[in-house]
Amino acid sequence: MSSRSRLRDYWTNGFESVEGWVHRDLLQPLELIQQVQERADIRGGALEIGVHHGKLLVPLVLMLRAGEQAVGFDVFEDQDKNIDHSGYGSYDAARRNFDRFCPDAAVTLVKRDSLSLNTKDRVDLLERHGPFRLISIDGGHTSVHAVNDLLLSQDVLQNGGVVILDDFISPHWPGVMEGAAKFFEHYTPKIAPFAWGMNKLLLTDVTYHAVFLNAFMPAFTGTPGFKAVRLWHHDVVAF
Ligand SMILES: C[S@@+](CC[C@H](N)C(=O)[O-])C[C@H]1O[C@@H](n2cnc3c(N)ncnc32)[C@H](O)[C@@H]1O
Repeated sequence: MSSRSRLRDYWTNGFESVEGWVHRDLLQPLELIQQVQERADIRGGALEIGVHHGKLLVPLVLMLRAGEQAVGFDVFEDQDKNIDHSGYGSYDAARRNFDRFCPDAAVTLVKRDSLSLNTKDRVDLLERHGPFRLISIDGGHTSVHAVNDLLLSQDVLQNGGVVILDDFISPHWPGVMEGAAKFFEHYTPKIAPFAWGMNKLLLTDVTYHAVFLNAFMPAFTGTPGFKAVRLWHHDVVAF
């Protein structure tokens, strides 16, 4: 089965049964990312910070090709480290979903607070599983977590990889917007936003920004939510 068929099969037969926070219409952006990365032969694994039960990490794993690996960090049952109560991860529930939907994939689930990942941990992560072409940031939602997780992600991102930032500008989670603003105003990051919709901000490194923008622009132009906007000096497709 191709990765496209696997993804569509999960969306039809599995998506609704997995607890979590992913918009149904995220399928099209995920398929576009996959098309761009396949065309450009961008290789690498999938990483998520904040797995909960795997509702998004499962499809990211289904997008992987032979030899590409996935890692998911979550505090899982150590909920005293989930200081802003964003979700409530469960190692067992997540593992069951990976066993059910992608039993043959190499998925490493790690019970860790993303703030505890030091430089050596990041090097180990890269050496063992990276770099990553698909990264979802959806763990702690304070500004500190957002800055930390964006810095971590760009460190382990494959050139041409995509970072998917959850809850960018959500009234319930203002820390993500505060953290992203600090990240863009205080650093000169190598990643830049190119698309924004379904509660996710999509970023890639500046080398590939135009490549992703040129794929997303025609796909969403004319759709009800479409607007071409500028964010931190970068062109972005809002959809
Ligand atoms: C909103 S949920 C994630 C939703 C998930 N991505 C999905 O597809 O439905 C947030 C998750 O982040 C975890 N979390 C909270 N703080 C964290 C931290 N500091 N490090 C790692 N995970 C954290 C929570 O346990 C929870 O499972």
